[in-house]
Amino acid sequence: MNDTFLRACRGEQTEYTPVWFMRQAGRYLPEYQAVRSKLTFLELCKNPELCTEVTLQPVDIFGFDAAILFSDILIPMEAMGLQLEFHESKGPVFLDPVRTQAAVDKLIVPEPEEAVPFVLETIRLLRRALKVPLIGFSGAPFTLATYLIEGGSSKVFLETKRMAYQQPELYHALLEKITRCTSLYLQAQARAGAQVLQIFDSWAGILAPCDFERLALPYVQSIIADLRQMTDVPIIYFANNGATLLELSKISGADVLGLDWRIKLDDAAKITQQHVLQGNLDPVALFLPKEALEQRIAAILAEGKAAKGHIFNLGHGILPQTPPEQVKIAVEAVHRLSRR
Ligand code: CP3
Repeated sequence: MNDTFLRACRGEQTEYTPVWFMRQAGRYLPEYQAVRSKLTFLELCKNPELCTEVTLQPVDIFGFDAAILFSDILIPMEAMGLQLEFHESKGPVFLDPVRTQAAVDKLIVPEPEEAVPFVLETIRLLRRALKVPLIGFSGAPFTLATYLIEGGSSKVFLETKRMAYQQPELYHALLEKITRCTSLYLQAQARAGAQVLQIFDSWAGILAPCDFERLALPYVQSIIADLRQMTDVPIIYFANNGATLLELSKISGADVLGLDWRIKLDDAAKITQQHVLQGNLDPVALFLPKEALEQRIAAILAEGKAAKGHIFNLGHGILPQTPPEQVKIAVEAVHRLSRR
């Protein structure tokens, strides 16, 4: 069992810096494409055997120090009673955006073992197969709410902010319900065997700090407080584009803070000394020539020494166009250059 990643999450000394990549299972891998070509993305997400297979692929191929459950942040939102589709061009689409009190009232807060048994079964299968720790995950309530309110992906998030500003009670009622669902969902993942939990706040960075503080952060704090009551698994909070929110993210309750590439790890460490930091290579830097890529990695490893602990990762999800050979080079370089 390689528990380097788990020990790094707890802030313990490790022989080298552990590495995994956000969205490490997926479309850049021919092995994933081969599985995915036989069924739709949602069908894949509901098939524990195939989810197990694609979760293992990048770990086996590249030697990552952690596996992340193959699923999607929107799976538990579908289980709240919403119709979800994934389109090749538009990404995720909710057919009926949630914008009224009636729509919020209709949402159910499901029991995970009943509503998403396939996710928990995938976790159980993975724990039997894996020799590295397993990361479970969810979206953060604010990020999930943007998809529900907008009905899919967005650029300016007008409907989300308009609801928060003009109908604060409705916004709060929706966020409360998403928070309850997410809290139960992560607790169920921990019970099924997830050894670390990451909360993805992909859209936190669109908020002014004063709005992040009241519209996003309290719901994350509530989920983490619930988790602390029942488990001691390390918790990672990743607020994408969140360098300017770091002072606030410090009080999320998470053990590890994920960072995108827009801030240097040593500058982040000056703001938060109590957290292990995770990150933060620009995903597009994987397109650099080998030598330049290795230099970038060395620089991030050096900056990471200023933190209480460092887990190497990208600053956001890996791009589908990434050549797999470049991932191999990066993982090997992190291991070699960080060996103590
Ligand atoms: O290794 C892994 O991390 C894979 C598991 C995973 C997926 N989605 C699979 C996926 C994880 C952890 C996610 C998280 C996720 N999903 C986030 C947070 C991370 C981030 O990128 O900010 C978000 C915002 C989503 C919502 C989502 N799912 C979008 C916007 C899209 C379409 C665009 C895209 O990135 O593909 C998806 C689809 C999706 N989720 C795919 C995969 C492998 C592609 C589906 C396919 O195979 O056609």
